[in-house]
Amino acid sequence: MAKHVITLVPGDGIGPEITSAMCKVIEAAGVDIEWRVHNGGAGVMDEFGTPLPQPLLDSIEETGIAIKGPLTTPVGAGFRSINVALRKHFDLYINLRPTVSIPGTGARYDDVDLVIFRENTEDLYAGIEVDEGTPEAAELIAWAGEHDLGTIRPDAAITLKPISITASERIIRAAFDYAVAHGRKKVTAVHKANIMKFTDGLFLHTAERIAAEYEGKVEFENRIVDATCMGLVIDPTQFDVMVLPNLYGDIVSDLCAGLVGGLGIAPGANIGDSIAIFEPVHGSAPKHAGKNEANPTAQILSGCMMLDHIGEGEAAETIRKALYTVYAKGEKLTYDIQRIRTGSTDGCVTTSGFADAIIEQL
Ligand code: NAI
Repeated sequence: MAKHVITLVPGDGIGPEITSAMCKVIEAAGVDIEWRVHNGGAGVMDEFGTPLPQPLLDSIEETGIAIKGPLTTPVGAGFRSINVALRKHFDLYINLRPTVSIPGTGARYDDVDLVIFRENTEDLYAGIEVDEGTPEAAELIAWAGEHDLGTIRPDAAITLKPISITASERIIRAAFDYAVAHGRKKVTAVHKANIMKFTDGLFLHTAERIAAEYEGKVEFENRIVDATCMGLVIDPTQFDVMVLPNLYGDIVSDLCAGLVGGLGIAPGANIGDSIAIFEPVHGSAPKHAGKNEANPTAQILSGCMMLDHIGEGEAAETIRKALYTVYAKGEKLTYDIQRIRTGSTDGCVTTSGFADAIIEQL
C-alpha cells in the first residue's frame, strides 16, 4: 500500500494538464502516493446529475487530503461555484495563499514574501442571494423599509454579507498562530469598517481582541482595504501576514499574484480542522485549455504545500529548489512568464515541457 492516499480532482479547463504535470513532478521526487481520482463540475453533470458527486465527497472524507485543479463556474446562471461549495461542505475555513517572489520571473517585484489568510466560509461569498423581481427580494426590500434601514430600489438583486464572531475569531487566530509558528513579525487585519461598521467592524474588533493575546509575540496593525491595495502596489514588503474577510481576501490575493508574476505562479490551500484541499489561486483559464501551454507552477507549488502538510517537507523543498533553478536559468519557461521577461512568448515551453525541466533538476 502507498504511504499516502490522496484525492486528486483534475478539474476542467487547464486543470487536467496542470495536475498531470504536478503528479509527474511529485512522483519523480520519489513521494509514494496513491491518487484517488474523482472529478466534479460541469463535466460530470451527465454522469452524476450534480456537479458535486457523492463519490468525490466520500473520497475526500476518507483520505482527508485532496488536491484539485481549477473548476469552471458558469457566470450569472447555472450552478454555484463547486470550489466554494467544497470549502463550505468540509468547513475549510482557512484559505491560505502565500505570495512569494520567484527570482527570474521578471515580475514587478523580486522581494515579496507575504501570506494571506482569507476567511473561507461567509461574507458576500456565502451565497445568500435573492434575484431581482422575486418575492424574496420584494420581502427583503419591504423589510428594510419598515425598519428604517434605507431604501433599496424595487428592481434590485440582493446578496447578504454575514460576518460572525465565530468565523472571524478562528481565521484571525489561525493567522496569529501561523505567524508565531513561522517566525513572522506582523499580522495586518484588512477591512472596510469605516463604511461597514457592523460586519467589517465586527471583524476589526475581533482582530484587535485576539491581537491583545499575542502582544509581545506578534505585531498587529489594521488597514482599510482600498489603502491596502495601494500600499501593496507601492511597497509589498511592508506586509507580512494578512488576514481578510472572504471577498477582500479573494481580490487582494489576485493583486498579490500580479506583483510576483501572475496567476500562473500563485498556490493556495483550503484548510479545516480535519480536512485540507490544496489548489492554485487561479481558475480554469478556458482560453488556454487543451493547448498544453498553461503554467503549472501554481499547481506544483500547491502540491508542495500539500507535501509540507503530510510530512513530506523534504520532498517539497527539493521540488521548490528544482523549480527555482528552472526560473533562475530562464531557458524553459511557459508563455506567461516568457512574456513578462522578454515581451514575447517566443521560445516558451509547454506545460509538460516545464514539468520535464523541473524533473531534470531534481
Ligand atoms: P482564470 O484564473 O482562470 O484566468 C484568468 C487569466 O489568468 C487567464 O486568461 C490567463 O491569462 C491567466 N492564467 C490563469 N492561470 C494561468 C496559468 N496556470 N498559466 C498561465 N496563465 C494563467 O480566471 P477567469 O478567467 O476569471 O476564470 C475562469 C473560470 O475559472 C471561471 O469559471 C471561474 O469561476 C473559475 N475559477 C475557478 C477557481 C477554482 O477552481 N478555485 C478559482 C478562480 C476562478
